[in-house]
Amino acid sequence: MYPLRRNRRLRTNETIRSLVRENILSPNDFLVPLFVVEGKGVKEEIASMPNYYRFSLDLLEKEVKEIWKMGLKSVLLFVKVPDNLKDNAGTEALNAEGLMQRAVKTVKNAVPEMLVITDIALDPYSSFGHDGVVADGKILNDDTTAILAEMSLSHAIAGADFVAPSDMMDGRIFEIRTLLEDEGFHDTGIMSYSAKYASAFYGPFRDALDSAPGFGDKKTYQMDPANRAEAIRETLMDIEEGADIVMVKPGLCYLDIVREIKNAVTVPVAVYQVSGEYAMIKAASEKGWLDHDAVMMEQLTAIKRAGANMIASYFAKDAVKLIS
Ligand code: PBG
Repeated sequence: MYPLRRNRRLRTNETIRSLVRENILSPNDFLVPLFVVEGKGVKEEIASMPNYYRFSLDLLEKEVKEIWKMGLKSVLLFVKVPDNLKDNAGTEALNAEGLMQRAVKTVKNAVPEMLVITDIALDPYSSFGHDGVVADGKILNDDTTAILAEMSLSHAIAGADFVAPSDMMDGRIFEIRTLLEDEGFHDTGIMSYSAKYASAFYGPFRDALDSAPGFGDKKTYQMDPANRAEAIRETLMDIEEGADIVMVKPGLCYLDIVREIKNAVTVPVAVYQVSGEYAMIKAASEKGWLDHDAVMMEQLTAIKRAGANMIASYFAKDAVKLIS
């Protein structure tokens, strides 16, 4: 059929390329992860995440106003909990006046239309740095899901629009949905980290929150990176249990999974481009080995092309500045 069909005709110049472009990033694509700490006037850079910060509540307020102005409409909140408040059951997670609960109210007061999503897992509150309750070196499933449901309710009461369980315990979506329904929080959504892998790319995040596991690893609850079918099974179960949005995490290494899940489900699919993915681009570009903006946009576009309806990314602000 050559020369009737020459694919390069559609690549001749930027005008035609932009007309045939299949995937375009916009501010609507992003969820902005934000790290919150106690204190006043605190904006501390995270060592392994250059140009990314932990904010105290007063500066969190400024930050969310700024990102709203940029067209970013959703935040994913994480808190760094002081050591003296950590215990095995993550008791502080249920404190109505805890840092997360105050952070939700702070964001909602500053920008009422901002979609506030809270992280649901015990690790920042756990004296063991695990996502669940520990006994005899094991992570207890059902004791943990009961606490996660109470934690979700507490965040909903504080004003969270969505809760995002990132723990990978079995049955937690059902437990959370049931309690939210029983308590009248019919409109509080659940974004489930449904296919979350036991990844080495979470390192910088654990620095950010001082939440690295104190013993062992997370392989008894997070998924084996070698598995594909299991990701579909986890995701379909979470949808049956009541998840409104499902997620694949990390991003880049798991885009095959993103595409398969996108083809298998009809709920929106989120992808988390995690801290290690951010750190790699920062480090290589600081060395002058990669073009920061080009690589960032290429990876984000690839995540969208794979099937992401939304992307949680530490690059959200950088990307939106480039887009506009
Ligand atoms: C906590 C949680 C983690 C991340 C999001 N929620 C860390 C972990 O599971 O150890 C990782 C995010 C990132 O690396 O950017 N359950």
